[in-house]
Amino acid sequence: MTRKLFVTTALPYANAPFHIGHMMEYIQADIWVRFQRMQGSEVHFVGADDAHGAPIMIAAEKAGITPQQFVAQVAAGRPQYLNGFHIAFDNWHSTDGPENHALAQDIYRALRANELIDVKTIEQFFDPDKGMFLPDRFIKGECPKCGAADQYGDSCEVCGAVYAPTELKKPYSALSGATPVLKSSDHYFFRLSDPRCVEFLEQWTHTPGRLQPEVLNKIKEWFAKDEDGQGGLGDWDISRDAPYFGIEIPDAPGKYFYVWLDAPIGYLASLKNYFGKKGLDYEAFFADPAVEQIHFIGKDITYFHTLFWPAMLHFSGRKTPDKINVHGFITVNGGQKMSKSRGTGISPLKYLELGMHPEWLRYYIAAKLNSRVEDIDFNPEDFIARVNSDLVGKYINIASRAAGFLTKRFEGRLSADLGVEGRSLLDALRAQRGAITELYEEREYGKALREIMALADKVNEYVDTHKPWELAKHPEQAAVLHDVCSTCIEAFRLLTIYLKPVLPALAEKVEAFLQVAPMSFEDIGRALGAHSIGAYQHLMQRVDAQLLDELLAPPPAPKLVPGGEELAPEIKIDDFTKVDLRIAKIVKAEAVEGSDKLLRLTLDVGEGKTRNVFSGIKSAYKPEDLEGKLTVMVANLAPRKMKFGLSEGMVLAASHADEKANPGIFVLEPFPGAQPGMRVR
Ligand code: 2FM
Ligand code: ZN
Repeated sequence: MTRKLFVTTALPYANAPFHIGHMMEYIQADIWVRFQRMQGSEVHFVGADDAHGAPIMIAAEKAGITPQQFVAQVAAGRPQYLNGFHIAFDNWHSTDGPENHALAQDIYRALRANELIDVKTIEQFFDPDKGMFLPDRFIKGECPKCGAADQYGDSCEVCGAVYAPTELKKPYSALSGATPVLKSSDHYFFRLSDPRCVEFLEQWTHTPGRLQPEVLNKIKEWFAKDEDGQGGLGDWDISRDAPYFGIEIPDAPGKYFYVWLDAPIGYLASLKNYFGKKGLDYEAFFADPAVEQIHFIGKDITYFHTLFWPAMLHFSGRKTPDKINVHGFITVNGGQKMSKSRGTGISPLKYLELGMHPEWLRYYIAAKLNSRVEDIDFNPEDFIARVNSDLVGKYINIASRAAGFLTKRFEGRLSADLGVEGRSLLDALRAQRGAITELYEEREYGKALREIMALADKVNEYVDTHKPWELAKHPEQAAVLHDVCSTCIEAFRLLTIYLKPVLPALAEKVEAFLQVAPMSFEDIGRALGAHSIGAYQHLMQRVDAQLLDELLAPPPAPKLVPGGEELAPEIKIDDFTKVDLRIAKIVKAEAVEGSDKLLRLTLDVGEGKTRNVFSGIKSAYKPEDLEGKLTVMVANLAPRKMKFGLSEGMVLAASHADEKANPGIFVLEPFPGAQPGMRVR
């Protein structure tokens, strides 16, 4: 029966390029998708950038661009990774797309109509140095559940617990290092503790086949209440105060959805966007009970996908996921786990730039993967062994050993007979179809590849027994040589079908060489017969150990200047001239009530009127020492509304990157003779 599948991978934050952990997840999902397609299923496989949230907003501000521009820059880098490793998403979208805005607001309205939204005034961490509410990711401290140090304010990367930042022990601001203070604000909550939610989730999570056993065990812990009735599912804070890069909450001015509310909705938004482009009916698709919705995710985001997400979908009257496939992390050389925020280890782009074969990595990762939530380790010696001994040594060599004789002696035409032993070898290969397809279905790729390599061993034994290179020396043995080499090619074809979900580009080359149409699992049951094949061209090299050394070599140390900060990327003169720097006279300088950092400066830039500029230099200067002095300002900076008024430019000052360790702010002053309004170039 053909299945209708909607498959996704977790949506990566659009604040950094992909790392090896992303590629592992995409490869895992891509293999499964390709396998399903080869079984004749209809699969829609989509991804998107997770665009929202405070970290992206802050990073964009730091880069001096809008969050939209920032996200677009990161998104522009995606295809080289996805194409490079043959990850065949049907669509790649963004959670900031119009579909997601509309869907998130619709889902929220439905939850509210279902009386599952509460408004509560909560105390939140506020950074007294920075003068802003601190986003979860910018508060760090010890995990309230397991005590791990340096965990973020929303969830623990060590034990997977999800909590409120205020629950962290020994909190500190990651922006300033200051100890945050509590301040109150109205927040919107999704009432996960509602008995309807609890009952639904009990049933949903326990549905057989939906979750891996170890995931279900973890969830049971999250459900559990202690003797005092404490614990269990808590309500979920889904709002954030402006300024925030996200989706506006309907009827709640100044409030935005917390990024994790709209992120998974991005799965639906990407599908909707894709269906729109293809002219397919999105509503009809989800109305079809045959549709299976399957998410591939990492273990650190299990809570969001197995509790919040199904509850949001169910109580907004939507289809819930059929399966959540959770994987572990990838470590490199037994080292630290690859985390989103500390993406060290292997750079996927460097891998490609070194000219390493993308399918070596696909094969190696597949060989390590199973259906459990286990971490896997990238080990260079193991990588070399599996690629060189198994992939090339056992599989590719079968073709190279047989093809030459067929082209030279038999004009590339295969024998239709193959002989008793040949037929029985091929029968043995065909007999594993059920076992291998089941292993793919269960995501037991490591076992599937072991089965396939065991079959390759059989084929190599056959070659060693029949020694085509010996047969070739005896003209009277031509028919046997023909049968043996034809058997090898037929066996190679079968192995290629089995490996095709893992090695799609290689399989395409094999199809060209064999002169056959794109192969599916149905083709296992067929025989080539007296078919003509093309000339064999080398399919895959062995991996050179030196490449792995280069891949794993640490990147060159960043060039530090005494200011403690790496030089910004090179710019062109045009970039510089965009910044209009002018000599400004400080007509007046005064303290700002309510701010311990800012001075209000009145500047004369020779325009016949003065400008108002706020500058964070209070700690370094007394206002009266500044008045009458000349300095340099950025005169064409867009005016910025601040808490204390409009700031119409920026005064230039020098400071060390680590201001805490190397205090001091030094305002620039021109040599004598400069006049207000002169351009600095
Ligand atoms: O953990 C992350 O990287 C999130 N950006 C994953 C979101 S998955 C889905 F919900 F969008
Ligand atoms: Zn923890």
